[in-house]
Amino acid sequence: MAIRTGTIQTHYQIFDKFEELSAEDQLLMEKAKGILNVSYSPYSKFKVGSALILDNGLMLTGTNMENASYPLCICAERVALYHAGAQYPEAKIISMAVTAKSSKLALPRPVSPCGACRQVITEFESKQQAPIRLILMGDSGEVFIFESGKNLLPLAFDGSIV
Ligand code: THU
Repeated sequence: MAIRTGTIQTHYQIFDKFEELSAEDQLLMEKAKGILNVSYSPYSKFKVGSALILDNGLMLTGTNMENASYPLCICAERVALYHAGAQYPEAKIISMAVTAKSSKLALPRPVSPCGACRQVITEFESKQQAPIRLILMGDSGEVFIFESGKNLLPLAFDGSIV
């Protein structure tokens, strides 16, 4: 019997530089960059900042928070998402910007959420029944925009089957 195969494609926009973003997306990315300095990352020296905007207009930020017990570290994305979920449970998240800087290396390419954060982003999308736009950037260079967390996590594990 012939083996059947599938192909998964994803889609995103590429902007050559920050200045090409819309004014609203630039503002959100600036918020994410503005929080980088309070990242608590003494172990990795890799500072990540996130900023999200809610449908009520509020912007919330997050940074990675590390721990001497390394598995307890939490990413900037989840800090902002859980803050939104706890403080504004009825609000929908429209977009989230993510950026990073490191004292060890230049980051000229966009920083992409880790697998755990992608799973959490898609859970929030299911909860609010609307996609979350992701605006991803390094410390310079191109910016990627994904229209949904699901575009970064095909075949996501979905709570509807639990
Ligand atoms: N980190 C984030 O905060 N977000 C990401 O998308 C990737 C990784 C953090 C976790 C850890 O504190 C540091 O970056 C290095 O992995």
